[in-house]
Amino acid sequence: MRFGYFDDVNREYVITRPDTPLPWINYLGMRDFFSLISNTAGGYAFYQDARLRRITRYRYNNVPLDMGGRYLYLRDDEGGEFWSPTWMPTRHQAEDYTCRHGMGYTHIGSTYRGIRADVRYFVPLDATLEIWDLTVENLTESPRELSVFSSVEFCLWDAQDDATNFQRNLNIGEVEVHDSVIYHKTEYRERRDHFAYFACSEPLTGFETQREAFLGAYRGWERPQAVERGVTSNSLSVGWSPVGVHHVRLRLAPGEVRRVIFLLGYHENPPDRKFDPPGSHTIDKTTVAPVIGKYLQPGQVDGAFAALRTAWDGLLNVFQVVSPDEHVNRMVNIWNAYQCMITFNLSRSASYFESGIGRGMGFRDSNQDLLGFVHMVPERARERLLDLAATQLEDGGAYHQYQPLTKRGNDSVGSNFNDDPAWLVLSTAAYLKETGDWGILDVPVPYENMPGTETPLLEHLQRCIQYTQDRLGPHGLPLIGRADWNDCLNLNTFSDQPGESFQTTENRNGQVAESTVIAALFILAAKELAEISAHQGLTEESVRLNRLAADMAETVQRSGWDGGWFLRAYDHFGEPVGSQACDEGQIFIEPQGLCTMAGVGLAEGLPYTALDAVHARLTTEHGILLLQPAFTRYHLHLGEITSYPPGFKENASIFCHTNPWVMIAEAILGHTDRALEAYLRINPSQREAISDLHRCEPYVYAQTIAGADSPRFGEAKNSWLTGTAAWNYVAITQWILGIRPDYDGLRIEPVLPTGWEGFSVTRHYRGTTYEIKVQRQGPGNDCVVRVDGQPLEGTLLPQSAKESVAVEVEIG
Ligand code: BGC
Ligand code: NOJ
Repeated sequence: MRFGYFDDVNREYVITRPDTPLPWINYLGMRDFFSLISNTAGGYAFYQDARLRRITRYRYNNVPLDMGGRYLYLRDDEGGEFWSPTWMPTRHQAEDYTCRHGMGYTHIGSTYRGIRADVRYFVPLDATLEIWDLTVENLTESPRELSVFSSVEFCLWDAQDDATNFQRNLNIGEVEVHDSVIYHKTEYRERRDHFAYFACSEPLTGFETQREAFLGAYRGWERPQAVERGVTSNSLSVGWSPVGVHHVRLRLAPGEVRRVIFLLGYHENPPDRKFDPPGSHTIDKTTVAPVIGKYLQPGQVDGAFAALRTAWDGLLNVFQVVSPDEHVNRMVNIWNAYQCMITFNLSRSASYFESGIGRGMGFRDSNQDLLGFVHMVPERARERLLDLAATQLEDGGAYHQYQPLTKRGNDSVGSNFNDDPAWLVLSTAAYLKETGDWGILDVPVPYENMPGTETPLLEHLQRCIQYTQDRLGPHGLPLIGRADWNDCLNLNTFSDQPGESFQTTENRNGQVAESTVIAALFILAAKELAEISAHQGLTEESVRLNRLAADMAETVQRSGWDGGWFLRAYDHFGEPVGSQACDEGQIFIEPQGLCTMAGVGLAEGLPYTALDAVHARLTTEHGILLLQPAFTRYHLHLGEITSYPPGFKENASIFCHTNPWVMIAEAILGHTDRALEAYLRINPSQREAISDLHRCEPYVYAQTIAGADSPRFGEAKNSWLTGTAAWNYVAITQWILGIRPDYDGLRIEPVLPTGWEGFSVTRHYRGTTYEIKVQRQGPGNDCVVRVDGQPLEGTLLPQSAKESVAVEVEIG
């Protein structure tokens, strides 16, 4: 069952009924100012940091679901009836409800009692504010007297403190109102240099800034007293809960259309220009007034919206495909790329499953996210890489997270996630392959942000490799530390205390537990660094790194092969994890995909056997399970993975991040159909038809789909902020479609599914547009490539000085 449809031409998902199984959200904002907005206008906004600069309040875990956001109320001032054009919070049965989630904007509208109302929400590219562009139309034959009420509830900046520290916070709220602008300035009197504002393009009939004055005691957003009465009291909040509410009266002639613009913004003042007059507590509006003045003009709003659309065209046009499969086209051309940009911006901080207070920028996560966005924003990828590298520890290890406001490593989360360093090498490799910007390797970058510790980036990468070298276990495999990619496989934790963090507690000295996943990542990283070194003329270093990779591959073959598949780990007692010898958790997905990608035992055919085992034991109609059999009880020596009920999260769900590793592995082995099938099974657009089961948004990947052991098999959770986005993008574009950036050019190696006659791709790469046409000539999968009519030797298109190049590929 569906709750809407894809409008690919406009790059939108159109939701046609408001009661989606879960709130289906979108993100507004590309830099600094970000908003989450649901299909019924729920959500919140923040500036840069979802915890420390939260602009509006949002109650996670609230009932009813998703109550709180950027709500408008329309009131028929003749009869007194009122409703919300976005369905929530009043939940009136309006006609023609539609929500169009597009690239960086959301448009929600409906018709009620002859009044059509549409709100377009977006954040302009270069401003720190959110625009609500409301259009109201009188569809009836008679004049109508309407009131419009806007509403937001301000957060007192630190979202964590705001939700807990009531003894203080109920005393500190402060606002100011001038003309049609409500300023929220809690703590501005003391150490803050920033305030929020909520502006309206119309003269106000009245306003409210005190929550209780608007809602009335013991009432909620669905029936505010001020709206019910049609009267506002111009309350000025001191303490308690500041809100922003504008009251505007509109008289609409038959057929008349009116536009009202609201701005919800964030602004910083220079420390010596905070107050006007100096010495007072009144905000100096000199620098904010022009911004407000600009965006309250409809022409400016339209211009900013057009600029936003153009910017997205530019980002998405870097890679466009026309294939025989609409789900491939739609995800590659629009939604998967979009989601990659969102994970770039937000890492794992704020979604409807991430509260925005718990997690900073993950080191491992951000490095992997980069794989999916580097081609769209290479300059920002560069900046991100250098930021990440600057948090690295001198021994090559990494802070597991850093805070976006300070860009400093987050002490409270700890290091010793022993996979972390490898990801920095892989992301840098991806950056170099995309851009050819070798100069980045010479950039001096500090460790732990400490001035004076700078070394060239290249040395950071070398230390990443050394870090693993320095931490090998009894079998010569890398020690796992707190955890590897799988945060929940905690082999040194032995936690028996409720509430203890599985990830940051280390109760046993971890000198035994080893990980084949880190081994595979090490091989991949060492090989990349070998190529990079060779490129830099460091021949010996390159040979050395290749040897390290080969030695590790041998070690995995010797001690990490279980007979039918790759082992997952050795535990604290040196016993195998992910082995036929285990009762539960016999086979894990991660090493099968990653060790195949790393080429372990290829000559001996091990990857073929391993992937057959994945096919036989882990593959389901909804995707590939993380492990089987699911753990049915808590195993002290395995940690959080066994804390989840069977079929959920790391305990045997379809953990979507891992599936693309198998897709890539299948593609490498030439299993073209199995690669595409694996891709399509978890493709959100393909799953749209079962939205009632899947329940999360059909336009973006979710982290997890409940596995076969769970009673909710097929139900997704944790949509949006997941490494699934980047890896699926890499799997389909680089390994199945086979358009793969390499150090010295663009590699063209499609693995064409048997049912496909061909496809075409437009790819912008290092200043050249490649128009690539792939056609099947025979049943095989060999590639013959012609460039501008000339045959090419091999499959690597060298960098071109031309503006555009025509590439024909024959597969047979
Ligand atoms: C989740 C993991 C996540 C970890 C982060 C765990 O509870 O299951 O998916 O990586 O938290 O700390
Ligand atoms: C989500 C985390 O953000 C990611 O870093 C981790 O690899 C996966 N969960 C698997 O545990």
